[in-house]
Amino acid sequence: MKTGSLVSFARLLERIEILRSGLRWAPQLDRTGVQKILGQVNKLREDVLLLSGVERYKERMSEKAPPRPKATKKRLQALMDRNFVFEGVFGENPKLLEALETVERAARTDLPILIEGESGTGKELLAKLIHAGSDRSEKAFVSVNCGAITSTLLESELFGHVKGAFTGSVKDRKGKFETAKNGIIFLDEIGELSAESQVKLLRVLESGEIQRVGSDEAIRVDTRVLAATNRNLYQMTADEQFREDLYYRLSVISVTLPPLRERTDEIPLLIDYFCAEASEKLNRPALRLSARLRRFLQKHPFPGNIRELRNIIYRVACLADEVGDLQDLPETIRPSSVGPKDSVEGRVPSRFTTLAEARKAATDTAEKEFLEEHLTQTHGNVTQMAKHLEMNRSYLQTLLKNHGVRAKDFKGKPKSAKGS
Ligand SMILES: Nc1ncnc2c1ncn2[C@@H]1O[C@H](COP(=O)(O)OP(=O)(O)OP(=O)(O)O)[C@@H](O)[C@H]1O
Ligand SMILES: [Mg+2]
Repeated sequence: MKTGSLVSFARLLERIEILRSGLRWAPQLDRTGVQKILGQVNKLREDVLLLSGVERYKERMSEKAPPRPKATKKRLQALMDRNFVFEGVFGENPKLLEALETVERAARTDLPILIEGESGTGKELLAKLIHAGSDRSEKAFVSVNCGAITSTLLESELFGHVKGAFTGSVKDRKGKFETAKNGIIFLDEIGELSAESQVKLLRVLESGEIQRVGSDEAIRVDTRVLAATNRNLYQMTADEQFREDLYYRLSVISVTLPPLRERTDEIPLLIDYFCAEASEKLNRPALRLSARLRRFLQKHPFPGNIRELRNIIYRVACLADEVGDLQDLPETIRPSSVGPKDSVEGRVPSRFTTLAEARKAATDTAEKEFLEEHLTQTHGNVTQMAKHLEMNRSYLQTLLKNHGVRAKDFKGKPKSAKGS
């Protein structure tokens, strides 16, 4: 992956210097000038946040990850050393690493790449990553959802049209292929393309030229094509639903993103990532999750993959106070023994006679689960835990003692041994 196209400290510093010299030599600033600088500062802020996320991710991967095979560790480390960290996180599933290593190499070429994977596995994110790592990173990335519009409209969307080409076409219009000239066009849901559109797309890929709808003029376009699908395109060619010649053109390089249920090692990383993201976006205090909610999420099958996990965390971030719990889950997946958020039986066990008593018990349970969860993660290392939680170590020891939790019980145990 080309380091220059990703956010790096050196690149940030360079941009700050450009901003500084721009300001130093500005004779005076009017409102437009101020707006422009504010825009640049905001972008810088976003990139600093992204970079700090990347740094935290690297730290977490190196410090807290459970023991993993040497070869996997080497591959993961090699990717991170080459600055292959994108807006998101990933774990160590061999299939995923293979996909990432492939796109890392292929990004720098101009070859078409086909990204396959179930819905919500991160295909669009990967396409953006390829763009960021390619020589076209400064040029456009244009995404078209081939399944979202009818075949006739899609052609005009992709290739543009001339005035009068069809009813309602009152002036010439550029298509996405032209907009993405010298950049990348991402054809999402490519499996939904009609037979007619498949022929037209094939022609464009073969000739490197497009024709706007209603025109004979050929326009050269140097646009790299990335495509994605959640269907089995190869099978579709066998069933004659997708042209074989087009399939081979699009899939010179092909990668498959495994579903989340096959990369469960990533769930804790993704949870932390989305908790931080949601807290920031929703402008709320840092969200923590109860140990039982974490356990639930670790075991959930996630038919909607990473998108589903992300949506759940955002929902929890919106509903929960400080600590998210099972009650904050959507009803469709909430365990039946747990009531909804507002239901008394879901939250407060009836064995309490006063509200204060119930409150104290609930806090105690959550606190204990929280401590156990973090002890599990740090394998019983209280110093590391105190550092991570930014808490005083001796206060932490007192809390553990109060709950009768012994750090040494968590030493060297696999994650599932405790906390369940
Ligand atoms: N590795 C990751 N780290 C963080 N966030 C991720 C990761 N992968 C996916 N996401 C997030 O999950 C959501 C779904 O990802 P994306 O839209 O790329 O999936 P998709 O495969 O294109 O889905 P669909 O097939 O439904 O179009 C997005 O919000 C994306 O940012
Ligand atoms: Mg998508």
